[in-house]
Amino acid sequence: MKVLTKNSNELVILAMKGDAVSKGDYLLIEDGKLNRKMIVQIYDEEYLSSQSLIEDIVRDEVITASSTENLHDPLNIANLSRMIRDARLFRTKIRGTIDASGKISSDVTWIPSRVYSKLRRLSIAELNESLGRTGIFPIKLGRTRGDNEDFEIYAEDLDGKLNIVTGKKESGKSHLSKILIKTLVQHGAFVIVFDLNDEYGGIATNYDGSPSSLANQVKILQSGKGLSFSLAYCGKAAISNVLKNALDTPAASMREFFRIWDWLENRDNLEIEAFGNAINTWNINELVRDALVSRFHVLQASRLFLQNRADGLKFENIFSNKNKGAVIVVSMAKIIPLVRRMVVELVLNKLVDLLEKEIIPPIFLFAEEAHLYIRETYWEDIITRMRHFGIYPTFITNQPDAIGDGIYRQADNIFLFNFTNDVDLDKISKVSLADNDTVRSIVKTLPHRCCLAIGKVVCDLPIVLEIASLGMLALGETKKFFKT
Ligand SMILES: Nc1ncnc2c1ncn2[C@@H]1O[C@H](COP(=O)(O)OP(=O)(O)OP(=O)(O)O)[C@@H](O)[C@H]1O
Ligand SMILES: [Mg+2]
Repeated sequence: MKVLTKNSNELVILAMKGDAVSKGDYLLIEDGKLNRKMIVQIYDEEYLSSQSLIEDIVRDEVITASSTENLHDPLNIANLSRMIRDARLFRTKIRGTIDASGKISSDVTWIPSRVYSKLRRLSIAELNESLGRTGIFPIKLGRTRGDNEDFEIYAEDLDGKLNIVTGKKESGKSHLSKILIKTLVQHGAFVIVFDLNDEYGGIATNYDGSPSSLANQVKILQSGKGLSFSLAYCGKAAISNVLKNALDTPAASMREFFRIWDWLENRDNLEIEAFGNAINTWNINELVRDALVSRFHVLQASRLFLQNRADGLKFENIFSNKNKGAVIVVSMAKIIPLVRRMVVELVLNKLVDLLEKEIIPPIFLFAEEAHLYIRETYWEDIITRMRHFGIYPTFITNQPDAIGDGIYRQADNIFLFNFTNDVDLDKISKVSLADNDTVRSIVKTLPHRCCLAIGKVVCDLPIVLEIASLGMLALGETKKFFKT
């Protein structure tokens, strides 16, 4: 391999057919004279094309087509010419320099010699060593594509961060999320998942149907089945937010709601039935009453609230055992969109309340297709405010344009699976943490189950990964009519 040309932060490298490197690989360019090393990443590959070369190929093709005689070629020139025709150009991005102490710096104010430079493939292990990328809580994601080495990220790099997993349908997004959740819980972290397809419960079960090692740490909750609260536990703020944001209760009715709540609270009678009775007998305008009655019926039908004084779900009971992680899977496949919004509003409000009072430790939130149940303004709230409270979100979506630009800009880690649609590619290449060319070119040709990891987890050097299998029940497959 040889350095051919440079254009801003790109180097073009000439390679022969036999050079076993491919898109996404890192190369080390060692300049023997300057005694410096440069790291570049291949983002695209093309033929060496010149007019004469093309004419040559055409001529050759015409000759073989029209004559059957063997050409006399004692000097084996045809072979040489074939090698030239198969020469490749690698477009690469300069990622940094390795200084004398072996550390990577972003000082790239020099260019390597075309004559004295030696090029070779840089393995991810070597790259990690130069980066000094280590940690205490590893998450094994799979293998690097080029050299087939195990690849780990560190849970510390997800801690306190905003992560995005995106890619087209069935590319393996949920699968990666399950690996992240599983390992986070193994490391003792607390996770809550808004599960739109009822697939994350599989973490509790092995392939053969037996309970997995995490079975006791997985809690699957559904409205009416475990996910039921007492009104008193939810608190006035959470319920009023449900009424206001999920059920669009008008301001006048909200005022009456507050008065009824206070009255019930003073009489120590915060119960759904007492609440209903109070609305019916309260001395208010009939329109306000109607508005409250209709909301009350929705609250009652949602089965999110306990009918009697029984103890409902308490997050602090699950997220309290400090040494042992746990995951709450909020199953939302079988509930109507309105109740979904209520569930999310209630759960997030209560969690923030508990985090503010420091009753529970920080938690990781995984949300699939969050635009379906989290209102627009909440997004901003989650990423700006919640981070300070201790909710660290990971958004999973197959529609990159459902996530606002503001969120991408604040993302710390992005796991990109394959996209072929140009509109999606445009969107994601504009807003992601890596440069446009790399994202566009690599993501477009990523095979199934491979992803491009960008951001803190890979020290800002994009790496192509082949995600490992899960070892547990995956669930979440697309249901098919024709069984094969
Ligand atoms: N690395 C992997 N190893 C083994 N199986 C995998 C891997 N990645 C994905 N799969 C399987 O491929 C299928 C699709 O994966 P997954 O459900 O994660 O895709 P998705 O991107 O979440 O799709 P959707 O857009 O439908 O939610 C699943 O059956 C999953 O088990
Ligand atoms: Mg999925």
